[in-house]
Amino acid sequence: MASMKSWLLHLLAVCFLLVQLTRTALVPTIKNNHPEVKPRVSNTYIVHSNHHAKPPHFTNHEQWYHSMVAAHSPLTTNTSNRILYTYDTTVHGFAVRLTSDEARHMSMASGVTGMYEDRMFYLQTTRSPEFMGLKPHYESASFNDHGLGAVRSSWKGKCIDTDDFNASLCNNKLLGAKAFSSSADAMAGTKGDHVPSPRDKDGHGTHVSSIAAGSEVPNAGMYMFSRGTTRGMAPKARIAMYKACDTDGCSSADVAAAVETAVKDGVDILSMSLGVLEENPFYDDIIAVSAFGAERNGIFVTMDGSNYGPGRSTVGNVAPWMMTVGAATMDRMFPANLTLGNGVVLNGQSLYTMQAEGTGMIQLMYSYCLTESENWLHENVEGKIMVCLDRGNDPDVYGFLLQKAGGSGIVFVDFNEWSRDGTSACPFTLPGLTLGFGSGERLKAYMASEANPVASFSFSTQTIIQENQAPMVAGFSARGPNPVVPELLKPDIVAPGVNILGGWSHNAPLYDGRRVDYNIISGTSMATPHVAGIAALIKKKYPGWTPAMIRSALMTTAGTLDNRGHDILDNGAPRERIVAATPLVTGSGHVRPNLALDPGLIYDAGESDYIDFMCTLNYTAEQLRLLVPDFTKCTRTLPGGPADLNYPSFVVIFDNRTNIHTLTRTVTVVSGKAETYKISYVVPERVKVSITPTTLVFKKPNERKSYTAKFRSLEGNVTTDGWDFGHISWENKEHVVRSPVAFQWKN
Ligand SMILES: *[C@@H]1O[C@H](CO)[C@@H](O)[C@H](O)[C@H]1NC(C)=O
Ligand SMILES: *[C@@H]1O[C@H](CO)[C@@H](O)[C@H](O)[C@H]1NC(C)=O
Ligand SMILES: *[C@@H]1O[C@H](CO)[C@@H](O)[C@H](O)[C@H]1NC(C)=O
Ligand SMILES: *[C@@H]1O[C@H](CO)[C@@H](O)[C@H](O)[C@H]1NC(C)=O
Ligand SMILES: *[C@@H]1O[C@H](CO)[C@@H](O)[C@H](O)[C@H]1NC(C)=O
Ligand SMILES: *[C@@H]1O[C@H](CO)[C@@H](O)[C@H](O)[C@H]1NC(C)=O
Repeated sequence: MASMKSWLLHLLAVCFLLVQLTRTALVPTIKNNHPEVKPRVSNTYIVHSNHHAKPPHFTNHEQWYHSMVAAHSPLTTNTSNRILYTYDTTVHGFAVRLTSDEARHMSMASGVTGMYEDRMFYLQTTRSPEFMGLKPHYESASFNDHGLGAVRSSWKGKCIDTDDFNASLCNNKLLGAKAFSSSADAMAGTKGDHVPSPRDKDGHGTHVSSIAAGSEVPNAGMYMFSRGTTRGMAPKARIAMYKACDTDGCSSADVAAAVETAVKDGVDILSMSLGVLEENPFYDDIIAVSAFGAERNGIFVTMDGSNYGPGRSTVGNVAPWMMTVGAATMDRMFPANLTLGNGVVLNGQSLYTMQAEGTGMIQLMYSYCLTESENWLHENVEGKIMVCLDRGNDPDVYGFLLQKAGGSGIVFVDFNEWSRDGTSACPFTLPGLTLGFGSGERLKAYMASEANPVASFSFSTQTIIQENQAPMVAGFSARGPNPVVPELLKPDIVAPGVNILGGWSHNAPLYDGRRVDYNIISGTSMATPHVAGIAALIKKKYPGWTPAMIRSALMTTAGTLDNRGHDILDNGAPRERIVAATPLVTGSGHVRPNLALDPGLIYDAGESDYIDFMCTLNYTAEQLRLLVPDFTKCTRTLPGGPADLNYPSFVVIFDNRTNIHTLTRTVTVVSGKAETYKISYVVPERVKVSITPTTLVFKKPNERKSYTAKFRSLEGNVTTDGWDFGHISWENKEHVVRSPVAFQWKN
């Protein structure tokens, strides 16, 4: 491995909580597959300005913005505490506290091009490098800077001293730590005078950054579980933390400020694990707008697709300039069993830490696991096993409360996950385990059939590796079709996101008060930094690559088979049975780092391609200016519609107006030599495809070649709704450059 001295990865680890495992107990449970958006009452607004419209008598934009606020807030004499942030890089404008009347006036002010009310984003691995086949190359503790040289001189970030965070904690590994909470503080009514602290009081920021780029640490683990050497995907990359969330969630104004600061500081890769429940067009989504600002600055942006699966169209963060990541299981299990009174053994997972090997038979009772329910009174739970059948978001919280109330055990049934593989193993302090939906149904049937149902636990407190079929897509992983642009396949890829070991902040005790240096948690939040870390390795190898090239390398080399050689399965429940995961669930497949470092061909795209794409979506010039401040007018739309973007995957939608789609793609050879590729494809029976040319001959490095793919539906007039899948790949002896194709028939 060449010296990494001159190179940096700076990771944006906006702290996030996702439904599956928020440590913040008792936040409102987000219901089933269709979470409702619950906008917070807030009077922070993000105001977009036309930065060219600044009247010349203002010396800078800030002055102009203050005058705007003064003009539209007649009762305010001092505007300096109203403006929370001014933005000038990823977004032009400012975040300001306004009443709704003031906001209405402001939105019509000259120079104001758009305005959003601030929104809250809901708070929703020792083995992973080997599992993914990444060759180890490392040295030594998660943020230890052993062996890392000085930081490149163009790096502008730093650590900010606060009451509880000493900037001297930063080193050549952790290059920056900044916090953004002005909007959240204003919303909560707390005085914003203090310097917001980047200290990780939640744990997620430490966890995700250690997954992406943690240094090697021997004998890491959580209690007796998952013991071994841990390291991030890119152990020599550097990390900068930008904290924009607290345990209540993340204010969009704070996130926008964090992204902008990261861009100005000079990061290369941005990894954000924020659960987004919105389906707004990109110009009306500050995260998409900010991410586009980062893309325009050459920064690779990867985001989670959210944990709102397994329902359809639940995927979030779906802009084509983001890499959208879903979560899959690994070949690692923390098994525990529940033996029913009738002798049936149900297999679950648990991080129950006591050495006890099990319990005797104990009476079972149902609960909806709402802590306010009278079920939780001592006289009701004493000496019983509580069976939680709803979808409470934090089994260990219920376990802790139940233990305090005198319960003897807890069984948590995860209705998102068909088998136990995708369930979150929890560090219960009383006998407890998590079951998948399939076992939950058997448990329910047994309990319904018995007047006095009983069960016993058995624990091995072992970490079992390489025995289970993996990867499998977790049920909680959000799915397509893309709710914003159906012609763009999302998620893009899946990566390990179930029961992932990662560093944990000592300032973030577990719910029961225990403090750990490593924690095992699940979520698309955990999958995303795996991709960020691999992107860092690619960027290190190919410093000149655009974000789209990096994404293409990751997507076209992703795997679709599991460790048994079968199609990757989808653990989403409830359904009649477990089925193969479609590209609407996996995107291009499971990330394969070693292959991604040598993709052969790539599909590139840049700002002008994304602009053409948005022009094809019929965004107006005003709307486009929110994303591209200097935009004037559309000059081109994509002839094949939005699906014609030069993206490494395809969606083809047939309806009764169109049964033929012709899409054009351009590939660039990046193997550094002359190469010939031949086409290979698989399409459903009811589709005919012709690809021209069928051979691509590259004579020199970085040569580009285009091809067209003409898809014809043989259904005639569309009579049925539905999806079918295939793929197109360009192949030679050394490379397979594969793109999934999703077909939809729509009537
Ligand atoms: C306006 O408020 C800020 C912060 O509250 C304060 O520092 C500043 O002195 C005030 N300016 C005037 C002109 O009162
Ligand atoms: C931060 O740490 C350094 C070195 O350990 C120490 O000299 C300094 O006083 C500390 N600063 C604060 C504010 O605690
Ligand atoms: C759980 O049950 C399986 C069989 O279903 C058995 O192989 C395994 O050893 C049991 N594990 C424990 C911890 O009892
Ligand atoms: C954009 O407008 C054109 C012309 O009205 C229309 O044919 C097309 O379907 C629209 N595209 C989208 C994505 O709405
Ligand atoms: C479908 O049927 C309608 C009416 O019968 C016809 O106008 C249209 O051209 C047909 N579309 C295709 C793709 O065959
Ligand atoms: C397709 O046909 C159905 C019924 O024949 C009609 O209701 C629908 O509007 C048509 N869709 C389009 C896009 O023409």
